[in-house]
Amino acid sequence: MPSYVITGASRGLGFEFVRQLSSDSNNIIIGLVRDKPTTEKAVAEELAGRSNIHILQADITDYEAVKSAVAQTAKITGGGLDHLIANAAYVSEYDAYDPIGVLSEDPQALEEDVLKSFQINVVSNIHLINQFMPLILAGNARKVIALSTGMADLDPINQYELDTAPGYAISKAAMNVAIGKFHAQYKKQGVLCMSICPGAVETGHFKNATPEQMVKAGGMFQKFLAYSPQFKGPATPEAAVKDVISVWEKASIDGGSGGSYVSHYGNKQWL
Ligand SMILES: NC(=O)c1ccc[n+]([C@@H]2O[C@H](COP(=O)([O-])OP(=O)(O)OC[C@H]3O[C@@H](n4cnc5c(N)ncnc54)[C@H](OP(=O)(O)O)[C@@H]3O)[C@@H](O)[C@H]2O)c1
Repeated sequence: MPSYVITGASRGLGFEFVRQLSSDSNNIIIGLVRDKPTTEKAVAEELAGRSNIHILQADITDYEAVKSAVAQTAKITGGGLDHLIANAAYVSEYDAYDPIGVLSEDPQALEEDVLKSFQINVVSNIHLINQFMPLILAGNARKVIALSTGMADLDPINQYELDTAPGYAISKAAMNVAIGKFHAQYKKQGVLCMSICPGAVETGHFKNATPEQMVKAGGMFQKFLAYSPQFKGPATPEAAVKDVISVWEKASIDGGSGGSYVSHYGNKQWL
């Protein structure tokens, strides 16, 4: 039975991965979350009767909690793991609306936010992947997928002056390289590691935005439109997750996908 561990399964794209992948009762779905009771309640209400869903508690910054999740996963699957989906992320609201030079007016706050992005989105994901790797090596599909963002691609940053969300984008760019390094090491053992951007997706990131921040967000969407005239605004989680799954299902080491950083279209077209 194909097995999947999905981090950040409580909401947003993570919950949607759980929803779509668990619709096939042959799949074993293991969601890692920080708040297990709340997620189990959401699963019971929205995905009632799906006995192939298992929710485990683990903040990915807590090494021991992830270690315990690895042990619990092995018990559920019988020892291996086919897919690890590193979806959880700190999507900073602090740096979402301003360029790096503006944020530098409060150097301490900037430093704390960049370090938080780096701790969760890079260091914790590196530990997560290392801790699950023995299970992946014992699995069949052997795929490690990290959710990335087109905001980390230097070409559109430069061409369209994408100056907001610096700490977030820097952390995702670093994670892209980490995924490349994992692939470089584990390719010979048949493990495919890749980074996939889901596109711009409506998961409530602007729900706390002030009117002034919404104006800034509007400026960013104008840049998105300049980048991609067919851009119609954020996609639904349903559409984005379908696209991302399709990209990893088609991906293979032989096909050259290993270590790559691609969009939900499977290429460098981000929107
Ligand atoms: N939405 C987009 O437009 C978009 C675009 C490009 C890339 N992405 C990427 O796609 C992924 C999912 O995005 P999203 O929009 O669904 O994000 P989201 O709605 O902000 O959800 C983030 C998820 O990560 C979890 N999380 C955060 N910190 C964690 C920690 N320390 N330990 C464990 N879990 C933690 C959250 O759990 P809690 O519920 O406990 O907070 C939540 O489940 C992210 O990697 C994001 O960078 C999203």
